[in-house]
Amino acid sequence: MEGGRPTWGELLLGLAVSLLLQGRTNTFTINCSGFDMSGVDPASFEVIFSQKDFPPVTNYSIPIHVNISFTMSAILDVDAQLQLLTSFLWLKMAWIHPYISWDPEDCGGINKLSVTAENLWLPDIFIVESTDVDQTPDGLSAYVAHNGRIVYRKPVRLTSICSLNIFYFPFDQQNCTLTFSSFLYTVENMLLDLDKNVWEIADTSKDIIRTQGEWELLGIDKATPKMSVGSSLFDQIVLYVAIRRRPGLYVINLLVPSGFLMAIDALSFYLPAENENRAPFKITLLLGYNVFLLMMNKLLPSSGNPLINIYFSLCLSLMVVSLLETIFITYLLHVATTQPPPMPPWLHSLLLYCTSPWKGCPAMFWKKKVDPHLPPTQLPGLMELEERGAKEQRPRETELTEGSGWTRAQLVDLWVWFGHVMDTFLFRLYLLFLATSIITVLVLWST
Ligand SMILES: *[C@@H]1O[C@H](CO)[C@@H](O)[C@H](O)[C@H]1NC(C)=O
Ligand SMILES: *[C@@H]1O[C@H](CO)[C@@H](O)[C@H](O)[C@H]1NC(C)=O
Ligand SMILES: *[C@@H]1O[C@H](CO)[C@@H](O)[C@H](O)[C@H]1NC(C)=O
Ligand SMILES: *[C@@H]1O[C@H](CO)[C@@H](O)[C@H](O)[C@H]1NC(C)=O
Repeated sequence: MEGGRPTWGELLLGLAVSLLLQGRTNTFTINCSGFDMSGVDPASFEVIFSQKDFPPVTNYSIPIHVNISFTMSAILDVDAQLQLLTSFLWLKMAWIHPYISWDPEDCGGINKLSVTAENLWLPDIFIVESTDVDQTPDGLSAYVAHNGRIVYRKPVRLTSICSLNIFYFPFDQQNCTLTFSSFLYTVENMLLDLDKNVWEIADTSKDIIRTQGEWELLGIDKATPKMSVGSSLFDQIVLYVAIRRRPGLYVINLLVPSGFLMAIDALSFYLPAENENRAPFKITLLLGYNVFLLMMNKLLPSSGNPLINIYFSLCLSLMVVSLLETIFITYLLHVATTQPPPMPPWLHSLLLYCTSPWKGCPAMFWKKKVDPHLPPTQLPGLMELEERGAKEQRPRETELTEGSGWTRAQLVDLWVWFGHVMDTFLFRLYLLFLATSIITVLVLWST
C-alpha cells in the first residue's frame, strides 16, 4: 500500500540498503596514512583514476550538481561587423565526487590535494555563444578536498556571438549573453548552479580587469531558463554581461573637431555679405570637413548605421546649405547693384513691416540707414561698387524708375538692404536648424 505505514520487511530492507551503502562509502575512503611524510601514494587514488571515464555518481537517478562561476579578466575586442565579443574568462567549476573522502585528522591535517585534471572526470560545460573550439591548455590541475569536492579552474579565451547595436556609437552600451550549458548531459544527469551571486562575479571582474581599453564592464545579470533541444532538456545558466564603451577617444577625435568646424561655419556668416572672401572661405571649410571625415573614417564602425554618421552628414549638408546661401546672397547683391529690378510694393511693405523694431525681424541694417526714402547712405564694402555704379550711371541717377517712384540709387539701396535682411534671416534659420538638430542628436545620445 503506497503512502501507508512501512511494513517490517520494508524497514529491514531499508536498514540493509543503508548498511550496504555505508559499507560502499567506506570502501572508497582513501587510505592516506603517510601522505604528510612520504607524499601521496598513487595506489590510494588508483580506483578513482581508473573510473575517470564515467561520471562520479552512486545512483544514476540523481543528477550531478555542478557549480559554475567565472571572473572576466579582460575584454579584448568587440567587433561590430562580425558581431563578436572577445573576452578572457577564468572559469571555475565545482562538483562532488562521491567516491573521494578521507579524514584529515588521519592524514596529518591534509585538507585538499591538487590532482592532474586529466586523471579525473570533468564536466563538459561549454558556452553556447562561443564560436571557437575549446582551447583549454594541457596539464591543468584540480583541487580535491577531503569531502570529495573538486574545484577545477581553467582559462578560457572566449570569442562569443553578441548581438551588437551600434546606433548610439560612441555612447553605446552592449548586452552580451553568455550561456553555460552541458554539451551532453540532460537535466536528468546534470544540474548547473552558480557558485556565487552575480554581483560578486561582476565586482571581482571589475577589480580584476586592469585594462583601460575601450570597453568597461557595467554589470552582470542572470537568468536560468532550461533549453530544450528536440525531446531532451538541458540545464543552462544564462548571464547577461553589460559593457559600455568609453567615449573619450571619439569625443576628442570626432565630435570636438567637427563641432569646431561647424562653429567656424556658423561664425563665417559674420563676414560681410559683400566681402568676396566669404564664399571661398566656406568652400575651404567644406573641403576641410571632407578631409577630416576621410581621415577619421577608420574610427567609425564599419557596419551598421550609427547616429554619428547621420550627424556627420547633417553637418556636411548644413555646410553645403550655408555655401548655397552665400552664393544666393552674393548673386542678390550683384543683381541689386548692377541691374536692380523694380521692387514689388508688397516686398517693400514686408520689409517695412519686418524692420519695425518690435517685430523681431532683423533691423540692424535699417537702423543704420534710418529710412529708405532718404538718399542712400553708403554701406561698408559697398562703397566702391556704388561709386563705380554711380559714375557710370550718373546721367540716369536722378531719373525715376518706371512705376515705383524711387530713384535708381534708392532702388539699389533697397535691394541691398533686402539682401542683408535675407542674409540675417537665413542665418537665423540656419542657427535654429543647427541648434535643433544638435539638441535632437544629444537627446538621442543621452537616452
Ligand atoms: C593504509 O596504508 C598503509 C600503508 O601505506 C597500511 O600500512 C595501512 O594498513 C593501511 N590502512 C588501512 C586502513 O587500510
Ligand atoms: C536512486 O535514487 C532514486 C531517486 O532518489 C531512488 O528512488 C532509488 O532508490 C535510488 N537507488 C539506489 C540504488 O539507491
Ligand atoms: C553549489 O552551490 C550551492 C549554493 O549555491 C552550495 O549549497 C553547494 O554546496 C555548492 N556545491 C558545490 C559542489 O560547491
Ligand atoms: C540584457 O538583456 C536581457 C534580456 O534581453 C535583460 O533581461 C537584461 O536586463 C539586460 N541587461 C542589461 C544590463 O541591460
